[in-house]
Amino acid sequence: MTTSHDRALTGPLEGRALTLDYGGQPIVDGLDLRIPAGAVTVLVGANGCGKSTLLKAFARLLRPRQGVVVLNGQDIRSKPTVQVARELAILPQTPVAPEGLTVQQLVRMGRYPHQGWLRQWTREDHDKVESVLAATGLAEFRDRPVDALSGGQRQRAWIAMTLAQDADILLLDEPTTYLDLAHQIDVLDMIDGLNASLGKTVVMVLHDLNLAARYGHHLVALRQGRVHAQGRPVDILNEALVQQVFGLACRIVPDPVYGSPLCIPLDRRQSARRSQAVPS
Ligand SMILES: Nc1ncnc2c1ncn2[C@@H]1O[C@H](COP(=O)(O)OP(=O)(O)OP(=O)(O)O)[C@@H](O)[C@H]1O
Ligand SMILES: [Mg+2]
Repeated sequence: MTTSHDRALTGPLEGRALTLDYGGQPIVDGLDLRIPAGAVTVLVGANGCGKSTLLKAFARLLRPRQGVVVLNGQDIRSKPTVQVARELAILPQTPVAPEGLTVQQLVRMGRYPHQGWLRQWTREDHDKVESVLAATGLAEFRDRPVDALSGGQRQRAWIAMTLAQDADILLLDEPTTYLDLAHQIDVLDMIDGLNASLGKTVVMVLHDLNLAARYGHHLVALRQGRVHAQGRPVDILNEALVQQVFGLACRIVPDPVYGSPLCIPLDRRQSARRSQAVPS
């Protein structure tokens, strides 16, 4: 049995000495990472550095070559699948719906871990599906096949399915992909609200460093499958980090509205001029 003391020691989700691969070279190499409870953690890093691979291992979709994933105090491999799905929901980077599946059918699938073989569809299931359809602005599309939606609508349908699962830990791989700016803010506000009001632990991948800094309580910068830096955005997001992690010169200034670090990427000519002016 897990006591609250154990939970405080381990955190709700943790990777210990994780080495991950797809049969060849390690993608993630000996990584230790503890996800803080009840916080929004944002993973950032260059394309191909291992963010999605790590999330897949956290959700038990990828078996580690070495190391363990600990979910609420237990090795995730020792838990029944339905139990894992009650504790943790994942939005993969490129989910694929069966052909012809409607939005409502997809979102209802999120309730699957709550259905026992004796338990029927309940009022609670119905209400949950309706509330996430409304919150993601998809109620009017409920009977539309998922494959007949725009990219942004489809992304919202998957987010709705993930939220319908009602797990305490949400793993979201680029939840804002395909969304216009207004919908990006809507989705991030919704995630922030779930964290603030229900204490959900969120781990999400974002490519927009400015939104990552604004919405993340804890930022984890990955580089070549290792944790390069982690901490509060204001403490770790600086010009050197962006250079080391993305190979990109930038200026960091305080966001005039939110105070979080604001990254202004320099184009290659600007950065060449800068490095001539300030020899390193
Ligand atoms: N199914 C797979 N089989 C083999 N190699 C894979 C597979 N999936 C990912 N990779 C490789 O693993 C590495 C890490 O991929 P991953 O998807 O974790 O990157 P990422 O950080 O999520 O990148 P992005 O920002 O582009 O989504 C890449 O080199 C990728 O080509
Ligand atoms: Mg990815």
